[in-house]
Amino acid sequence: MQGERTPIVSGNWKMNNNHFEAIQCVQKLAYLLQKDDFDAVDVTIHPPFTDLRSMQTLIDADQLRIKLGAQNCHHEEKGAFTGEVSPLFLAKLGVQYVIVGHSERRELFGETDDFVARKVVAVQKHGMTPILCVGETLAEREAGLTLDKVKTQIRAALAKRTAEQVKSMVIAYEPIWAIGTGKNASPQDAQEVIAAIREEVASLISRPAAQAVRIQYGGSVKAGTIAEIMRMPDIDGVLVGGASLDPTEFARIVQYRRHAV
Ligand code: 13P
Repeated sequence: MQGERTPIVSGNWKMNNNHFEAIQCVQKLAYLLQKDDFDAVDVTIHPPFTDLRSMQTLIDADQLRIKLGAQNCHHEEKGAFTGEVSPLFLAKLGVQYVIVGHSERRELFGETDDFVARKVVAVQKHGMTPILCVGETLAEREAGLTLDKVKTQIRAALAKRTAEQVKSMVIAYEPIWAIGTGKNASPQDAQEVIAAIREEVASLISRPAAQAVRIQYGGSVKAGTIAEIMRMPDIDGVLVGGASLDPTEFARIVQYRRHAV
């Protein structure tokens, strides 16, 4: 955590946990986390769409400080877009954070930089916070194209945003080769790319926006690796996939300050 930026730990469940399993998972997580944890760290969970209503009800009824997130949305509010989910409807369900441009959406479902940019605008229009994902493939990394790739993604996604809008966003650097593979970018490698992203925001938008925007690392984060990641000066949190499905492991990730060496 750096300066004024509140750390943010996010659990992206991807296509896992039906709404019964989701309730159990969040109840257990809420039991494991303490007031101190929520005072120090923003905690968001991103269940599948079909779980959101159950999650909203649970969070409201038990007054949980876990923040509700979605994994995606469309950029239009309504209309003939069969199978898509409106950002307006997500906001009505108490969703506060929306992952936008996850590499699985970009690589498996053909989402372009332009499409992702529209979603960023739509999410903010409805008062929610986008978690904008960027990251390179293994081939791009090996060809020395990592920074070119992430800077291009950042430029496209932020083109229509003001400094104030960028300040309140979250960016997640998720190298595609580190997702679900057990391979981490080293904390130093992640720091280097994330520092470059911050510089890109400074030159594109403004220095204060670059200092305020929170940037997460994502890719095979575990309880055993989080403390070292969070010691990096530009890394403000993590976006966790597999390890967020186990409430005990995810709680230990949120509580990284307690087991920091
Ligand atoms: P893993 O933590 O399973 O590698 O997933 C990372 C991710 O894609 C989070 O959005």
